[in-house]
Amino acid sequence: MNLATNYLGLKLRSPFIVGASPFCDDVHHALQLQDAGAGALVMRSLFEEQIENDPAAQHTPSADPTRPEANYPEFADYQLSPEQYLKQLRHLRKTLTIPVIASLNGHRPGHWIDFAEQLQEAGAAAIELNFYQVVTDPAIAADDIESEMLHTVRELAAAVSIPIAVKLSPFHTSLAQLALALELEGAAGVVLFNRFYQPDIDPEELDVQPQLRLSDPGELLLRLRWLAILSPQLRGSIAATGGIHTSAAVAKAILAGAHAVQLVSVLLRQGPHILSAINRDLQTWMVHHGFADLESFRGRLNLRRCPDAVAFERANYVRVMQSWKI
Ligand SMILES: Cc1cc2nc3c(=O)[nH]c(=O)nc-3n(C[C@H](O)[C@H](O)[C@H](O)COP(=O)(O)O)c2cc1C
Repeated sequence: MNLATNYLGLKLRSPFIVGASPFCDDVHHALQLQDAGAGALVMRSLFEEQIENDPAAQHTPSADPTRPEANYPEFADYQLSPEQYLKQLRHLRKTLTIPVIASLNGHRPGHWIDFAEQLQEAGAAAIELNFYQVVTDPAIAADDIESEMLHTVRELAAAVSIPIAVKLSPFHTSLAQLALALELEGAAGVVLFNRFYQPDIDPEELDVQPQLRLSDPGELLLRLRWLAILSPQLRGSIAATGGIHTSAAVAKAILAGAHAVQLVSVLLRQGPHILSAINRDLQTWMVHHGFADLESFRGRLNLRRCPDAVAFERANYVRVMQSWKI
């Protein structure tokens, strides 16, 4: 059974990527995941704020009037400093045989982009760029945000020769146009989707509760829809992240057009060994359906053969709304 896939121009032995998370902080965990069948791993993100305020860096931190009052972690509170990140990346590269992808998390152009060159030198096979931003200022237009994103990708692509994947939020007005524009600026692929940190409210304490929630399987549906829409239109790669917990979810994402799937929550909950079971069960499913490799079914259920995808989506919506009877 051939599980090999091409993601960002990298030849991966399987479509299972360990998504950005603390797993790469410890090389033993990374090795366990490699042994369980992972095709690649993504390191946790280094943040724009962290790189720009690195006391060891040569440049002057960028002036940002919002930062003094914002409650960012102290430099020492980040799990890995930029220097430690490079050291860990080199260590992972020496120990593992599968590609290691570095992750940068930012939201606009700046000095932090220069750090990508060091990630490349330290052996990163690719860079995943996570755009995380919650836009709350009504004076900022959607176009301004997207222009900055495109500018950032252009600068990053000029700084390195390794491929760049952009981890996107689903909350863009015209996601298809943005994804195509990112490709034109040099992105080799997109990762669908970033999950937003969503604080809850405690009605008894009358307080806001910060929380990191692991995903639930229902989150996959939004990814499936956009994989199906974007996969016929993009020339580069697409990875799915969010709610992939089983081999059935992996099969669905590939049927919708994914080149690779990223897993985090299921590995945190059940441990690295669950990846072997997902790997085995995907192969059993492929045998059952007569698929010898991933290309035999990748994108089989995307919207390539749909002549009017907008009408198709709207018609399905109208039909579903009519289906519930009391
Ligand atoms: C503990 C934890 C740490 C994470 N750290 C990062 C990170 O540093 N950078 C990033 O882009 N995503 C990060 N993520 C998001 C994951 O990479 C992934 O996109 C998300 O958890 C959805 O996938 P899942 O449903 O398999 O968990 C983190 C998620 C968790 C649970």
